This record gives sequence, structure tokens and C-alpha cells, in this order.
Amino acid sequence: MRRLVIPVALAAAAALALSGCGRADDTSTSSGSSSGGEKFPKNSLIGVSLPQKTSENWVLAENLFKTDLASAGFQADVQFANGGVGEQQNQIQSMVTKGAKVIVVGAIDGSQLGTQLKAAKDAGAVVIAYDRLVKNTDAVNYYVAYDNFKVGVLQGNALLEGLAKKKASGPYNIELFAGSPDDANAQVFFDGAMSVLQPKIDDGTLKVVSGQTKFNQVVTQGWKAENAQKRMDTLISANYSSAAIDGVLSPNDTLARAIITSVKAASKPVPVVTGQDSEVESVKSIMAGEQYSTINKDTRNLVKATIDMVKAIQAGQEPKITDTKQYNNGVKVVPANLLDPVIVTKDNAKEAYANDPTLSKLTG
Ligand code: BGC
Repeated sequence: MRRLVIPVALAAAAALALSGCGRADDTSTSSGSSSGGEKFPKNSLIGVSLPQKTSENWVLAENLFKTDLASAGFQADVQFANGGVGEQQNQIQSMVTKGAKVIVVGAIDGSQLGTQLKAAKDAGAVVIAYDRLVKNTDAVNYYVAYDNFKVGVLQGNALLEGLAKKKASGPYNIELFAGSPDDANAQVFFDGAMSVLQPKIDDGTLKVVSGQTKFNQVVTQGWKAENAQKRMDTLISANYSSAAIDGVLSPNDTLARAIITSVKAASKPVPVVTGQDSEVESVKSIMAGEQYSTINKDTRNLVKATIDMVKAIQAGQEPKITDTKQYNNGVKVVPANLLDPVIVTKDNAKEAYANDPTLSKLTG
């Protein structure tokens, strides 16, 4: 059982639960119970449909799914949909036609896959939403992800901590960024962060100088760096010709670096900027004292949790589920295995990446 940290978060969660498409408090755990024989042969086809390469984690996932599904004895069909939603729809349809027994989906647009996932369900395939929830369909069996709300909470806390280190007391001038509105995660990250930041905006500690505090005002279409950079350019010229900008909530590393690029181009000091994903360039930036924080969501663990789920399904067992309440996709609550994200700043980077062969080289 887990409780959210503060009442605002509870209120937000309750509101989302009522609106039928968000998260609610509470978790429960089940794991590994057996329920009969093999569901399908071990060498069956497993489809993995990934979105566009909007951050490094997806590229890492592609390689891990290919090698680790194969070494577990499955046939793997791992595809990216760089061309967009239509391409992803076609890929999933073709995985169904080829007889995939499990289809793992990292959706570009979580609301646009209903027809293809229904086809998967009708063909008897099991559908696992990977990292991003798929919405408004009953044709999704499980969800595997890092705890998205907690990611946002950690980002909000890191922003406050970075600001306090920079200047003993507020008010602090900040701006807010969110991810792509077609990705179900973007709203959850933002809600998590705002559960921490909104009370500080309300009490005057934080000042969002542009006044843009609503999710729809701060989204970044397609999680594209150029969109964040453009918005930051506009925010600076409209609001910060004389004022200092102390901090920026950025939902991930790609956008954090775009925001920092914009600030530098305007010859402003780099503010406290949050991130997510532990991308190589951002870890370098953190170690160099520019970007303030990132989140470690080790892709190796997420892919492993997903493949463990595939193995359990194949063997006719119940996969590990840690949450049966939070992820209502508008039609059903999707049972989830949620992993724990870790905040990383310069202070704990060495320890946080100790087991990562690439990132540990960057932390000195
Ligand atoms: C993932 C993030 C990632 C973003 C952009 C989200 O759904 O959870 O880790 O930064 O997509 O690729």
C-alpha cells in the first residue's frame, strides 16, 4: 500500500480518477502465481512496437528487446514508428497478422491504437503497454513503466532544492514545460510536479512570470527539442528582458538541453533546470554544473520487467503486478508493474550510475 505525499496530489488523483482517465491512490502487489500450462510455445513471435526516437531510452530499449527476447528463446519483431501514428498502426496490425502472441506497445499517441489493439485481442494476443499507457481501449492487458507520478514529484522537489541552493529565499522566477499531450505520461509527470510546485506558487515562493501554468499552455508537441527551444525563446523575450529566470521545470533531458541552449543564446545565466532519462549529454551537463537534475529510469530494468512478464504469460502464470488502482485508461484500470525512478544530481551521480557501464564513465 502506498500513499501519495500531500493532499494536493490526492485531490488531483481523485479528480483524475473521477474523470475516468487518470491515476488514483493506492497499490497492491501480486506476483508469480501459477495458473495452468503453457499459454503458447516458447519460440513464438513477440512484437515490440516502439514510438519515435524522441529520447535515448527508446533506442536502448530497441537493442535490449532484440537481444534479450532472442536469448529467452522467443522470435522478436522489434519496430520503430518514426513515420508517426499511421506507421505504428500498420506495424501493430502486421504483428497481429504474423501471429504475435504478445505485443508490447510504446505508443506515440496512446489514444489512436484502439482498432489495431482490438484486432490483437480478437486474435488472442496479449497486449502490454510499455512505458506509456494506451488509453480508451479494453484491449490492453498490462502496463509496465516507471512510476510516472513519482517522476514528476521528484522533478518538482529537485527544482525547489536547486533553487534553495542558488538563493536562500524566494520569490523565485520560474517557467514550466510539459511533454507531448498525445503521450499519456506527459500529464502524469506534470501532475506529479505540480503536486509539489502548486502550493509554492500559491504561497508566492515561486513566480511563473509568463503566467502559463496550465498543462495545455506548457506542452511540447512531439517531445521535440525545437518546440521547447522556440517556446523558451519566446518566453525570454516576452518576460525576461530585465528579470532573472531562476528555474525551469523540464519534463525530460532532451527538452532540458533545448531550454539551456535557448537561455545561453539569450546570454542569460543558466537557471536550475530539471530533466529525466539520464541521457549521456545531460549527465555530462550535470557534471559540468549546468543542468541541475535528471531521473534514472534504467532502461535495462524496464525491458527486463517486460520480458519477465512475457515469460510469465508464456508459461501460463500471473505476471508480477505491483499496482491495480492507479492507471485507469478511460475504459479499464490496467494492472501495472511500476518501477521506482531515482532522482540524480551532481551530488549522487556517481552512486546512482555505479552499475551503468556508459554513465559511470562520466561521473569521475
Ligand atoms: C518517457 C520519457 C521520455 C519521453 C520522450 C515518455 O513517455 O516516459 O522517459 O523522456 O517519453 O521520449
